[in-house]
Formats: sequence, C-alpha cells, structure tokens
Amino acid sequence: MALYAIGDTHLSFCVDKPMDVFGGNWTGYVEKLREGFSVLTEQDTLVLCGDLSWGMSLEQAEQDFRFLHEIPGKKIFLKGNHDYWWTTAAKMERFFAQKGFDSLSVLHNNCHFYQDVALCGTRGWFYEEERGEHSAKIFNRELMRLETSLKAAGDREKICFLHYPPLYHGYRCEEIIELLKRYGVKQCCYGHLHGGSHRLAVSGVQEGVEFTLVAADYLNFQPKKILEF
Ligand SMILES: [Fe+2]
Ligand SMILES: [Fe+2]
Repeated sequence: MALYAIGDTHLSFCVDKPMDVFGGNWTGYVEKLREGFSVLTEQDTLVLCGDLSWGMSLEQAEQDFRFLHEIPGKKIFLKGNHDYWWTTAAKMERFFAQKGFDSLSVLHNNCHFYQDVALCGTRGWFYEEERGEHSAKIFNRELMRLETSLKAAGDREKICFLHYPPLYHGYRCEEIIELLKRYGVKQCCYGHLHGGSHRLAVSGVQEGVEFTLVAADYLNFQPKKILEF
C-alpha cells in the first residue's frame, strides 16, 4: 500500500493537443504514463498535481478521466493552470458519479486521508501571474483554500500538494511558505515546471519542508512514491 504523486499528465484524448509535438521525452508520453502507472495496485493512492487534461469542459476531458480511472487505486485531483475543465467540487463529483468514475476525487477546499496522514493542497501561486487587483483576489482565495485544507487535517501529519512551486530559483512565495511552516507541513510536492525549467527547481529540505518536483516529464512519466505503509 503506497502513496504516489505525479503532476502535469497533460492528457489530450479528446482534444487535438498531444504533448508529443514538443519532442524530447514527451514523445510517446501516453504510453510512458501507462507503463509508469502499471506499478499501482488497488490499495494505492495517487495524487495528480494539476495540468491533468487539455479538455475545456468535463465532457471534453471524459476520455482523459477514463484513462486515469482505469489506473488501479484511488486518484485525487488537484487543479493546475491548464485545467480549464475544472468547475465546482459538486459538479465534478456529480460528473464522476454519472460516468462511474468512482476512483476519482478532488482536493479542493478539503483534505483527504491516507491512513493517518492528511493530504492537503490547492493550485497555489506563481510569479508568472500578475499581482494586480484581480490577481490579488485570486491569490488570497488560494491562500484561504490552502489554509482551509490544512485546518481540515487537524493534528495529523500533513503532506501538501501544490501545482505551482512555492519556491523557485530567485522566487519565494512568502505567504504560502509561511502557511506550510505554521501548520507543520514536512513535505510539499509540486508540478508545473517543464523542460528547461527543471534545473531551476528547488528540491530537498528548505526551512524544514522537503520539496519535491513531481512534473511528469521530470519523473520520466513514472509516478513518485511518497509514502509506503
Ligand atoms: Fe504543466
Ligand atoms: Fe502548469
């Protein structure tokens, strides 16, 4: 029984936007993902750290959800900046129930449990996004979501999953890092960084939190084992 994480699967079964066009290790990425996911069993849990599907609506992403549903074990979704299909938790859950995707759930203003460990998180914030008045609103909402998720965990050990890295070469999202520290988060997995950006990622323990980049192309499309019980 193990907990795995991977971000940025960028699936595109229903939309003609395959990542293979980028070449490099993206060539044949769906087959690589299928192969990578073959290590999972029904007892495992996989957290998908955003940028799951290029679909613009739940309906357009249906085949991508089916691909993920067919992987053994429980799958927990987090929103990425390209998940345009993302809507309210109620609508997503209703859609998954209607389609029989009972292994899929979302991490959105809540937390999930893996044994005694709380899985918390939200999309997060990145310097690519401007901090104008509108952005400030979104940023504050992300902070509230993260805190709601961390609070829901109570006293349990917490692992935090974000799409955007809270730390990046020369960039530090003070407010998010402060929340991770205040709630005693020891481990933080994030995605979003691709290709040439990998070398600028922060990994290992910083300020008491262990940071791990889990973008699929960084992991060569093999989910990262985070915990095993
Ligand atoms: Fe991505
Ligand atoms: Fe992203």
